[in-house]
Amino acid sequence: MAVERIVDARGSSDDGDMPDEQQKFENTLRPQRLSEYIGQESLKTSLQLAIDAAKQRNEPIDHVLLFGPPGLGKTTLAGVIANEMAANTKKKGEEQKPNFKVASGPGISRPGDLASVLTSLQDGDVLFIDEIHRLSRQVEETLYSAMEDYVIDIMIGKGPAVRSVRLSLPRFTLIGATTRAGALANPLRDRFGLVYRLEYYSEPHIKEIITRSSRILDLTITDEAATMLSSRARLTPRIANRLLKRVRDYAELNNNGKIDVAIAEQSLELLQIDRLGLDIADRSLLRTILDHYGERPVGIKTLAALTGDEASTIEDYYEPYLMQIGFLERTPRGRVVTGRAKKHLG
Ligand code: ADE
Repeated sequence: MAVERIVDARGSSDDGDMPDEQQKFENTLRPQRLSEYIGQESLKTSLQLAIDAAKQRNEPIDHVLLFGPPGLGKTTLAGVIANEMAANTKKKGEEQKPNFKVASGPGISRPGDLASVLTSLQDGDVLFIDEIHRLSRQVEETLYSAMEDYVIDIMIGKGPAVRSVRLSLPRFTLIGATTRAGALANPLRDRFGLVYRLEYYSEPHIKEIITRSSRILDLTITDEAATMLSSRARLTPRIANRLLKRVRDYAELNNNGKIDVAIAEQSLELLQIDRLGLDIADRSLLRTILDHYGERPVGIKTLAALTGDEASTIEDYYEPYLMQIGFLERTPRGRVVTGRAKKHLG
C-alpha cells in the first residue's frame, strides 16, 4: 500500500506533533489488517461487514468517521481499512492498489488546498483527515459536494472576472478522525455513512497489544511484567507502546534487556507513573482543582487559567481517562474531583 503524508500536520493533537522517531516506532507496531487489530470488537464486526459488502459490490467503502480520545488507534484503523480495501483489488487484470493519503484538519487551510488533495486522488483511494473538527467552515463546505457527489466547485480568477468551475473527482473514501464528535457541524457528520466511537481498551486487550509489540520488537518480557504494564497504560495502546519503549531502555541498561516485573516497576517509578497510570501532569491537574476548589465544581476556562494549559488540551488529553476511571466528573456547573481521586492522591 502506498502511504503518502500529503499535508503537513503540525499543530495536530494526534500524530502530527509527534517527533519522527516516535512516529517510526509507532508505525512498526501498527497492525496492517483487521485480523491483527486487537480490541474494539463490535466496531470490528461492523466494519468487516461494511468492507465485505463494498468489495462484493466492487465499490469503495462509505465515508467513515472515527471519534474518541487520542491514542486509541484512529489512524491505525484508517490504515487498516485502506489495506483491507486494497487486498485482492485488481482492476483490468493489473495489480492496482488504492493509496492511503493522510492529511490533517489544520493543514488544509483553504478550499484550494482541499481541491489539490482531492484532485490528486484516484478511484478507490482512501483519504484520511485527522482532526477533522479543525477544518475551516469554508473548507468544510467544499467537502460536502465532494463527499456526496464526487464533485467540487472552485472559484477561479479575481474580482469581476471570477467564475466557478466544477471538477469531478474519483470515487474516494474519506475517513475523518476527531477527538470530539460534538465539535463537528451536523451537515458534515451526516455525510459519513459509517460512524464509530473508539472505546478505551480492556486491560487484557492492552496486555495483548504489549505482548504483540514485544514480539515485533524481539523483547524478552515476563507475563507478570506485561500484566503490570497493562495496568498502567491508561487503557490506551499508544501509551502502552510508549511505556514499553521506556521500560526496554531501562532493561537494556540494567538487566541485559530482560523485562521482568522488578525492572518494569523500577522504570515506572523513575517515570513517576503511579499504580493507575497517572503521571505528574494528571496528578497536578487533580491537585490544582482540590487546592483551589476542594470538591466544588470549577469551570473549564478557570481551570485552564489555573494550570496554564489550553482548555482543549485539558478536554482532549487529561479529562477523558480521568472521567473513565471515575476521578473527575463533568457537571453543568463545571468539573468536580471525586472522593475516589482524593483518596488516591492521599
Ligand atoms: N497497536 C496499537 N493499537 C493496536 C491495536 N488495536 N491492536 C494491535 N496493535 C496495536
